[in-house]
Amino acid sequence: MTTFAGSRWWIVGASFGLGRALALALAREGADVIASARSADALAELARAQPGIKPLPVDVTDPGAVAAAVERAGAVDGLLYAAGDYEPMSARAWRPGVAEQVAAVNFIGALTVLSHVVPAMVARGKGRIVLIGSLAGFRGLPGAIGYGASKAALMHLAENLRVDLTGTGVTVQCINPGFIATRLTARNDFRMPQIMTPDEAACRTLRAIRSGRFSVSFPAPFAWLFTLGRHLPVALFQALVR
Ligand SMILES: NC(=O)c1ccc[n+]([C@@H]2O[C@H](COP(=O)([O-])OP(=O)(O)OC[C@H]3O[C@@H](n4cnc5c(N)ncnc54)[C@H](OP(=O)(O)O)[C@@H]3O)[C@@H](O)[C@H]2O)c1
Repeated sequence: MTTFAGSRWWIVGASFGLGRALALALAREGADVIASARSADALAELARAQPGIKPLPVDVTDPGAVAAAVERAGAVDGLLYAAGDYEPMSARAWRPGVAEQVAAVNFIGALTVLSHVVPAMVARGKGRIVLIGSLAGFRGLPGAIGYGASKAALMHLAENLRVDLTGTGVTVQCINPGFIATRLTARNDFRMPQIMTPDEAACRTLRAIRSGRFSVSFPAPFAWLFTLGRHLPVALFQALVR
């Protein structure tokens, strides 16, 4: 069973929402948490709220800034990539630049951070990588141009990492939450089944990390629509979610 006390975790995307709740939860369990995102003020406030959290502002879409942040973070036992962006957008009302921005944070940003962290963990022969995917990454959903594909890419990347890193001492997990009440879902104008608070989602995420399972999706039964639904013909799945 995983104990977080005394371990050093870098949470990217820790200023608000799920990442913030995870930073607080991990620090309360006795972990040293390095908290990153763009909003320096929110990170400073987070560090004041809970001992054990150190702010490290960074924009994951800036490779130079990421390289500098990696230096300042130093060796970490765990990396939790929770940075994310989302704009509801249908292919029928495509706004240039939006999908690129979302993908830059959700997927390319993850690649940039991992390109530094993974080799360092492999060299040390230990480490934990946790990527926050989404139920939206399993199948093509309406109004998710940019977001859905970027999460699918991140979840696929987790599988690539898992197979390559088996035997290196570096473990990989992909946690796929359903709806969480955050800044991102405040942009939705539809009913969100089984929506969770960030604290509730953080609690389930820590439980998933502790389980050691590669891929964990929640909350049930909503998550079953996506985990089982990926085996359905696309027309049937899309008729169900519509
Ligand atoms: N909300 C949901 O229903 C839901 C469902 C499934 C998965 N998720 C995933 O959960 C994660 C957290 O999202 P959330 O819902 O908690 O939203 P949120 O409150 O908006 O948090 C997103 C985090 O990402 C950071 N971020 C965004 N752009 C960044 C950039 N360029 N560089 C560094 N950090 C950046 C934000 O901080 P700054 O703005 O300060 O940079 C913030 O800390 C995301 O990966 C999201 O896709 C969310």
